[in-house]
Amino acid sequence: MNLFLEILLLCATVIYSYLEVFVKLFIPVKRKSVSSEIVLITGAGHGIGRATACEFAKHQSTLVLWDVNKLGVEETAEECRRLGAAAHVFLVNCSKRDEIYIAADKVKKDIGDVTILVNNAGVIFCADLLSIQDHEVQNTFDVNILAHFWTTRRFLPAMMRKNHGHVVTVASAAGHQGVEFMITYCSSKFAAVGFHKALTAELSALGKHGIKTSCLCPIFVNTGFVKNPSSRHLPILKPEAVAKALLDGILTNKKMIFVPSFLSFQLILNFFLPERALAALNKLQGIKFDAIIQASKKEE
Ligand SMILES: NC(=O)c1ccc[n+]([C@@H]2O[C@H](COP(=O)([O-])OP(=O)(O)OC[C@H]3O[C@@H](n4cnc5c(N)ncnc54)[C@H](O)[C@@H]3O)[C@@H](O)[C@H]2O)c1
Ligand SMILES: *[C@@H]1O[C@H](CO)[C@@H](O)[C@H](O)[C@H]1NC(C)=O
Repeated sequence: MNLFLEILLLCATVIYSYLEVFVKLFIPVKRKSVSSEIVLITGAGHGIGRATACEFAKHQSTLVLWDVNKLGVEETAEECRRLGAAAHVFLVNCSKRDEIYIAADKVKKDIGDVTILVNNAGVIFCADLLSIQDHEVQNTFDVNILAHFWTTRRFLPAMMRKNHGHVVTVASAAGHQGVEFMITYCSSKFAAVGFHKALTAELSALGKHGIKTSCLCPIFVNTGFVKNPSSRHLPILKPEAVAKALLDGILTNKKMIFVPSFLSFQLILNFFLPERALAALNKLQGIKFDAIIQASKKEE
């Protein structure tokens, strides 16, 4: 096809996709059933992971719950069983590739092929670049992004064979916006967003349209993950509300799930506002949390 025709076709596609989005605003989107899916959630022992497990349990999915925190993850499993779902607990330290591989093989053998993978486990160390410890940087990348590679590479082959599945990446608003004293965390979450976007492109290029992807990007959630978070006008979210938004996004195969949803509009501003205006906007938001700042000053 010549370039002129291709550009014409592109314009038609752009107009069509806007119309499609507009029409879909008025017709209810179909939600898929997840009752016969095997759902694996990492970091299921607390917070968003636990709340997400409970949401899947309400849909009677089979749950495979991973965490390092034995007590926490067993409590989550109990809650899921109370909701009528089967739940299996695995103690896995997601910062260790070998542990992930061993646990993944055991899941495949004992329970079956995971069809929905939720990479949720995450850690944060709030400190400036010079104060953060080397092992904290390492741990952040091990859990927040490298673990996504190890789990996905283990569970994707079965999804590929059936051309059926869903890979969910729990990232963050901090995966789209640089935040001071979260430099390690932001880098790892930008990586997680990149993982999700490139995986989405790759599955499409391979024609595996039956394997869906979703990426969750919330602002602060009151799980104790970040210590004493506050903002002048952004809400601090509850894990249950975030999990509900996540489930809704998964059931409708939404690729990017911002919570609150207006966050996407704010992120658009990053591309359009001049730098001075952007800095003023960030200042207005007054985001605060506990962090170690300049602890290394003594060494100067
Ligand atoms: N809380 C927030 O403000 C916030 C905002 C945006 C995104 N997130 C993301 O949501 C996810 C969950 O956060 P949360 O707020 O529920 O945190 P949380 O601390 O309440 O729960 C995290 C769970 O992950 C587990 N975990 C930590 N390291 C692990 C490891 N090495 N191996 C296995 N399990 C491990 C913990 O034991 C815990 O049960 C994280 O990826 C986080 O980055 C959180
Ligand atoms: C998980 O493994 C890391 C090393 O990769 C270690 O520092 C951490 O203490 C381990 N966590 C638990 C709870 O065992």
